[in-house]
Amino acid sequence: MKLWAGRFQKETDTLVNDFNSSIAFDARMYRQDITGSIAHATMLGEQGVIAPEEAEKIIAGLKTILADIEADRVELTAENEDIHMNVESLLTERIGDTGKRLHTARSRNDQVAVDFRMYVREEIGAIIGLILKLEHVLLDLAEKNIDTILPGYTHLQRAQPSTLAHHMMAYANMLRRDVTRMEDCLKRMDECPLGAGALATTTYPIDRERTAALLGFAKPTENSLDSVSDRDFAIEFLSACSILMMHLSRFSEEIILWCSWEFKYIELDDAHSTGSSIMPQKKNPDVAELVRGKTGRVYGSLITLLTVMKALPLAYNKDMQEDKECVFDAIDTVKLCLPVFSGMLATMTVLPGNMRRAALDGCFINATDCADYLVRKGMPFREAYMIVGRLVHMCMDTGESLESLPLSQFRAVSSRFDADVYEALDMKHCVEERRAIGGPARGAVEKQIASIRAFVEARESADE
Ligand code: ARG
Repeated sequence: MKLWAGRFQKETDTLVNDFNSSIAFDARMYRQDITGSIAHATMLGEQGVIAPEEAEKIIAGLKTILADIEADRVELTAENEDIHMNVESLLTERIGDTGKRLHTARSRNDQVAVDFRMYVREEIGAIIGLILKLEHVLLDLAEKNIDTILPGYTHLQRAQPSTLAHHMMAYANMLRRDVTRMEDCLKRMDECPLGAGALATTTYPIDRERTAALLGFAKPTENSLDSVSDRDFAIEFLSACSILMMHLSRFSEEIILWCSWEFKYIELDDAHSTGSSIMPQKKNPDVAELVRGKTGRVYGSLITLLTVMKALPLAYNKDMQEDKECVFDAIDTVKLCLPVFSGMLATMTVLPGNMRRAALDGCFINATDCADYLVRKGMPFREAYMIVGRLVHMCMDTGESLESLPLSQFRAVSSRFDADVYEALDMKHCVEERRAIGGPARGAVEKQIASIRAFVEARESADE
């Protein structure tokens, strides 16, 4: 019999029962549900809403249910609709009528709101941990490749000299923002909706500050209607996940390019790539491609929840039961992608010779440096730019590079050129000159590495 069977004359249609039930997916919040119920019962006992012995009996019963679910010793049923009613019926089955007192001064509306927050809160912690692990891989790669010249690109055209370390630190900065975005989300969701009841709190003398504290929230939410109808925290979380995945998909795209024969900047480890069923020579970057692909799925979750919540009148509506699967899927996807991506990066072989060759290979990525050379000799930049443009054009006709051009040719376009131009055009020199904050020069990159390392370590030591 349904917990809410009182006013009904008929059994629920079986199709409706299955349609309405969420146990198939919300069972994963069992621990949060039981923890929330323990806090609620504790508070009810303390406030004299139920007798202290009753509270104790309820709490003991809830603990046995938790242990049994964890040991896979209970069956959760669609008949009991969701995790909240499953736990409540199990409790009454086990401890008798006292179990029926647990739901005093509470509704499933505030119950699901608090369970879901606690679930998302925990998973954000886990995801931050995984992002920090990826940061370590990037720090490692950066430290080993401070002098590894890599062409920097704009429009996917080789543009100016950079280094692999500089490139890795770009991603490290994106990931740092992902961590702080997740942290912001945690800060804003640090309010406990329990006690909001169905929508308008309750007539019992409950203590919302107490349950908030017991469940590790900074304070109770301020408005009960908002408390039970708010899913902003989940939407913010999905936004943060989407941005994180966008970063991973950009990185994936570069990995895919870099291990193609056209680039060959890296080689993926055999254990982190896959073969073809027909082409014996193939080694494919499936991990990077799947991460790129799964990004779409996480965006989908964000759009799902935004659309579910759109135009819902206050307060709770059953539409909101659709909030969970998309969030769970995004969590699973992100938690799958991060470690597999870290593993792929940590084991790949960098091919510095090919990166360097691409930087030198007649693509004039030191042309800006050549113009800057003339500026240092007193010429206005726009004029220098024009002259070097002409030189580049000349080189393209003859198949030469700037650094292989004889001095006489340089001097033919400007008498400001001297023998020291060759040093100015040297790739290593070009990188070293870019020592402004944020640049690829050794000193500048070392600062970036130290900053990310301090960020990561501060979080790791706070966790211990
Ligand atoms: N399973 C429901 C959900 O996930 C719990 C809240 C149900 N509340 C209600 N009034 N039907 O949203």
